Amino acid sequence: MPSSCRVVVLISGNGTNLQAIIDGCDDNLLADVVGVISNKPEAYGLIRAHHSEIDTSCVIAHRGESRAQYDARLMAAIERYQPDLIVLAGFMRILTDDFVNHYLGRIINIHPSLLPKYTGLNTHQRAIAANDSEHGASVHFVTSELDAGPVILQAKVPIYEDDTAEILAARVHEQEHAIYPLVVKWFSQQRLKLHEGQAYLDGTLIGPSGYAPD
Ligand code: GAR
Repeated sequence: MPSSCRVVVLISGNGTNLQAIIDGCDDNLLADVVGVISNKPEAYGLIRAHHSEIDTSCVIAHRGESRAQYDARLMAAIERYQPDLIVLAGFMRILTDDFVNHYLGRIINIHPSLLPKYTGLNTHQRAIAANDSEHGASVHFVTSELDAGPVILQAKVPIYEDDTAEILAARVHEQEHAIYPLVVKWFSQQRLKLHEGQAYLDGTLIGPSGYAPD
């Protein structure tokens, strides 16, 4: 791996996590966001990338196209950047096994829940509905099972009685912006590895709730 890790970020929307990573790169994250790819042309994250003079591409799904066909085009777009790390930052598509296996160990995701709780969508609403006292976000290696790859780092937030999903989402988002750049930095420093389906930091196995859960 070169001294600065080449990162491609995949987005579908606002891109606040992308922004946190871009800001972290400016702040000596030892990584460079070399490309941002969106499946949605209107994604605000593309504008964030332009502001930082980062190259962007859009890979829009064609009507009737299979997931495999889409992912092959996505892979071709990614490969143009010759990345060391693929960062999913609110990229709202399910990826094929072939795609995930191609990038295994160098593709990470952030999910707005304390995995393994609440995989999938509407996580904030579901945590409130379940009367949970805490919620959070997880950064994990992507494996072929949706939102089930080994957790690297989690951040917890409290849930208060009068929280709405929007209020809770904002609280979680703030934590996401702290943990995602940190994990990118660990990867860039070559401290983070996926080995036989488990995540390691500095050669030490990371537990199911991520590094230093408390
Ligand atoms: C983030 O909250 C992220 O955890 C979530 O999308 C949001 C993107 O926000 N990801 C998922 O739900 C993936 N399953 P952003 O575009 O402002 O970074």
